[in-house]
Parts: sequence; C-alpha cells; structure tokens
Amino acid sequence: MASPTIESILHENRLFAPPDGFAQTASIKSLEEYHALAERAAADPAAFWAELAQQELHWFQPWHTVLDWQPPFAQWFVGGKINISYNCLDRHLNTWRRNKAALIWEGEPGDSRTLTYAQLHREVCQMANVLKGMGVQKGDRVGIYMPMVPEAAIAMLACARIGAAHTVIFGGFSAEALKDRLNDAEAKVVITADGGFRKDKVIPLKAAVDQALEGGVPSVSGVLVVQRTKSEVSMVEGRDHWWHDLQATASAHCPAEEMDAEDLLFILYTSGTTGKPKGVVHTTGGYNLYTHMTFKWAFDIKDNDVYWCTADVGWITGHSYIVYGPLSNGATTVMYEGVPRPSNPGCFWDVIEKYGVTIFYTAPTAIRAFIKMGDELPKARDLSSLRLLGTVGEPINPEAWMWYHQVVGGERCPIIDTWWQTETGGFMITPLPGATPTKPGSATMPFPGIVADVVDLDGAPVPPGEGGYLVVKHPWPSMMRTVYGDDARYRRTYWEHIAPVNGQHLYFAGDGARKDADGYFWVMGRVDDVINVSGHRLGTMEVESALVSHPAVAEAAVVGRKDEVKGEDIYAFVILEGQYSASDELKQELKQHVVKEIGAIARPGEIKFADALPKTRSGKIIRRFLRNLASGEAIAGDASTMEDQSVLDQLRRG
Ligand code: WT7
Repeated sequence: MASPTIESILHENRLFAPPDGFAQTASIKSLEEYHALAERAAADPAAFWAELAQQELHWFQPWHTVLDWQPPFAQWFVGGKINISYNCLDRHLNTWRRNKAALIWEGEPGDSRTLTYAQLHREVCQMANVLKGMGVQKGDRVGIYMPMVPEAAIAMLACARIGAAHTVIFGGFSAEALKDRLNDAEAKVVITADGGFRKDKVIPLKAAVDQALEGGVPSVSGVLVVQRTKSEVSMVEGRDHWWHDLQATASAHCPAEEMDAEDLLFILYTSGTTGKPKGVVHTTGGYNLYTHMTFKWAFDIKDNDVYWCTADVGWITGHSYIVYGPLSNGATTVMYEGVPRPSNPGCFWDVIEKYGVTIFYTAPTAIRAFIKMGDELPKARDLSSLRLLGTVGEPINPEAWMWYHQVVGGERCPIIDTWWQTETGGFMITPLPGATPTKPGSATMPFPGIVADVVDLDGAPVPPGEGGYLVVKHPWPSMMRTVYGDDARYRRTYWEHIAPVNGQHLYFAGDGARKDADGYFWVMGRVDDVINVSGHRLGTMEVESALVSHPAVAEAAVVGRKDEVKGEDIYAFVILEGQYSASDELKQELKQHVVKEIGAIARPGEIKFADALPKTRSGKIIRRFLRNLASGEAIAGDASTMEDQSVLDQLRRG
C-alpha cells in the first residue's frame, strides 16, 4: 500500500460517472449544470451568495452590504443579524423535523443516546442559561475540552446561542497545549468531562484541566464538568461545577441572541510555520451560509439520510460537518466516541450497520488502516445502507480510493474527496455527487462560488499538468477573518507569499497542486513546514520547540517521513547537550516529553541522534536533506551550499 506518489497520481486516469440515481435527484444534476452555476457564481460571487443566504437561512435583520473586501480583510453580510444556533435548532421546531433525530450518539463502551431537534434545542437552551449563570456574556470566550459526547455539541451550540465564542481544544492535546490555547483566547470558562473513553482507556480530561489551570490561566473563573467515565476527580470549591447539577435546575427558555453577521463565532487553533499555534477566527453569518451550502450540495443531503462523519469535534471537520452544517440543514448527524481499536477493529462497520448510515465521511489514513486489517471486517457487516462516501484530511492515494469504492461502497457509492482547511471553514474543492465524474486521487473542481487556481510564485497560472501553489482568488463567506489577536501574522502567512496580480489578492493555502487538462485539481500536499500525520496537522517548529524544552536537547530538527498508513510520520534529528549520551531510554524519554508538551498526536515515530545538522553557510538547516535521510533516499540536489560537507556523511553512517 503506497502513499500517494507523484507517479501514481500522474498516471491515474480512471473516470467514474455519477450514478444515475444521483444525477436525477441531486441539487446539481450534470456537469453542464455545474459549469453554468460555477460561471454565474464567479461572474458575481456577491450576488450568488446573497441569493443563497436569503433563501437558505433565517436572518433577524437583512444585511446592507454583501461583501466588504479590504484585502486581506473580508466582511460578509455586513449589518445582517443572525444566530447559527437558531438556524441549527429553532427554525426546525415548527416543522415536522421537530421530532426527527438531530443527533445519534454512540459511546465507545456501547452506550447510546438519540436527541431529537426538540430535545437538543431544550438542552442547548438550558446550557446557555447555565453559562450565563457562570458569568459568560456575549463576546466572551469559552474553552471546550471534551470527549466525543453529545454535551460537546450542546456546549458549542449553547455558546453560539448567547454570543460567546467557543474554542474547542482536541481532547488529545496535553495540559501544556491546553494552557497555551486557553491563555491565547483568554477563556472565561472551561467545559470538560471527568474523562473520556479512548481505545479502551480512560483519558483524564479534568485532571489535565486542573494541571493547565495550576500552570496559570488567569482568565478562567469557572469549570463545568460532564460526568462521563465516573472517574475520581477533585472539584475545586467555587470554581468547578457538575454539568448535570446546573443543567437540572436551568430554565429551558433562552431566546437566541441576535448576532452581527461578523461577530466572532469561534477560534480554532491550528499549526503553522512557527512554534506558536494560530487561532483561526471564524465569524457567524458567512460561516453559517457556507457550511450549510457545502453540506447540502456536496453531501446531497436528503431528509431520510443518516449522515456520519468520523472526525473529532476538536477539529474543523467536527465543527463544520458534525455540528453546524448538518444541523443547519435539519439532517441526522451521528457522533461516535470510539475509534478502531484492538478490542473492536471493525467498530466503524458496526455503527454503519446499527444505524443504517447512508453517508459516511472519513479520512484516507483510516481507510489505509482498514485495508491493512483486511476485507473480512467490512464484509462481515451489512453496509448496503450506504449511498455516498467522502474523504478529507490529506491526499487520497488511488489505491485507497479504489478499495473504499469497491469494499465499502460496493461500487455503487460516489466518493467525494473534499479539499479544504481549518482556515477555509468549509469544502473548497470537491465533487458534487450528481454532477462531477470523479478520478481516484483528485478532489476534482472548486465548489460553485470558489475561484481557485494553481500558480507560480508570481501568481501566474501554471500550464496544465505542471505543479504550482494552490490559491483562491476571490474571498468566500467562510474564509478565516484573521489570526486571533495577530492581524500581521494573518497577512504574512496567507497573503504575502504570492504578490497580488493586477490588484487581485491571492489566498495562499500552503499546498502544492496541479491541474490536469480537464481542469481537475490534484492536491500534492504541504509546501510549508507543516506535516500531516494521520490527517492531523503539526508544525515542524512546534515539535522542535517541544524537544528543545527538554534539558538533554541542544538542537532539534523535525521533518516528515512517508508512512504507509499515517501518510507522514514525524522524524526528529536531535543533537544532545554535551553531558548526555545517546540511548534508547533517552529516545523514549524524549518521545514522552513531546507527548507531555503537545499531545500523543505529536509523538515522533523516530528520533535520530546526530552530532551536527546540515546547514547553509548562513546557518539555515537544509530540511530537504533531512527529508532525504529520513526516508532513506539519496541526497537530492546540490550540497555545495553546505557549510560542512562531512555532516551528511556522519548522518548517513550514524
Ligand atoms: C490541510 C488542512 C479540512 C479538514 C481536515 C484538515 C490537507 C485536507 C485534503 C484533501 C489533499 C487535503 C491539506 C490542507 N488536506 N483535505 N482532500 N486532499 N489534502 O484540516 O488540519 O486545517 O489541514 O490538510 O494539506 O492544507 P487542517
């Protein structure tokens, strides 16, 4: 099973037409219709989005300006008043959907719970009142550090309801990482659980919160704790409260706050080129519209669908396509606490069979792991309810695509390979299942209203088949608005790599891509210092800073190494302080140290001790060579700019 290679991608030319059933009932029914729509949208994106915003969402008050674009700062639906929790809940209550399942939840130990729209609305209103009671006001930030339980979605919607911004921190992050993020966002309250179940173990979430707060998070005045694992936790008098205690007495009456379309909805931290994670800022109106439309058209949602996305709510995929997109559409969304684990490697197929899942959305890394486990597991379950499949997180290698198509999809389900990012809020390049013929390994073409291209460093489009930088040429409703508290970093990271062309500013995604002669996009992966481990994004600098914070480490350099299942794995070169000597114990200790600083997702797969690193004469580490060394390849390219040629020999030998 190979990871996507340029070779396999370049030679891929199979074409899968949309099945007839889709072409007949989808919102966009043919390639011609897609092209016509995309052209109309590109000619006047503001008018295109305004029409949809009017048709699809509830507004307390209409906007006066669709788009105010002061590059690189965009405002959408300026003057409009909206509440995304209202759009996800209240407006379904006076329809037959009132008693439709909004959220179907399955816990790792096999417990489960279903909440109808009416029940979810009630829980959210109560929680909104609980938060108000804890002093949370419109404009405040609330940290959410939770397992995959319904309360995580309830907490997000409750924040949105009262106009407090949430910042969800993935439950796999360490106390240290949690502390940094809570401080950056200046969160007032943290919502957590006593623990969460993950791979048959209990993850002590509350203990991590305690540790983070002991480390110093002066903004936090209250902690709300969901009882999930019934583990022993210590509750700090006056600061900590049980969710169920406060929820039990809270009023279920809480009208949704009328928010400005541009009010902060959430901050979500993601990795970039420096050691400090970026707080990606998303606002209300544009995000609501864009996640609504992409969910509706790309997932071809119908009222009898049971939709399941396997992501965690700690990532943007969970925000946009477990919670907001599906609920805004009145869909049934499945939430699963577990992940494939030795005690139940086929758990995903169990969930599909149990709930009759019709639309399934997962990551290529999961698919590759399933391939390794063999076809018996999916074949042992009835997957005939499935009608549409999706992938996200990294390029999918054509081999994995074909397996997904044949073994999971029974050759009848289209696959939407959705390219997007934390920063884009929603799908940017994706097939529309009733219209777009798919090619294994290609995310195909931009969503209507998105103007994307592949360009060189001067912003000039590269010829078909040639590699370049993936850019977006026109603002879109759910684009990030800035880096929280750091407009300069926002400008520098996304808008200055490629110079404006004829006054047009280009959004630089950080990915390399090529477009083929049919206009299909083939995303090749990151071109910056970001590595993608099992679809999780990590900054090389972030891992390096974690390593050098250990007393034994003098210097560290981290690169990605190809991995059959994870896509990429972390490979770290470490130079030790003089008084320490290399040993396997120290390797283990350093790996554990990174887990403590960041979380288990950042644990290096391999650490190599070195005497020196390859550097240019000006002292810059030549990562290209390290990548070659890590993957056991020959050193590619000119080594003459190196300060000390013998360094490479030593690394090769060592
Ligand atoms: C990066 C964004 C979007 C939610 C999950 C990840 C890579 C994502 C694809 C895809 C090729 C993909 C890119 C992107 N990526 N989807 N379908 N094909 N690459 O969000 O953590 O913000 O990471 O993931 O490199 O830049 P994220």
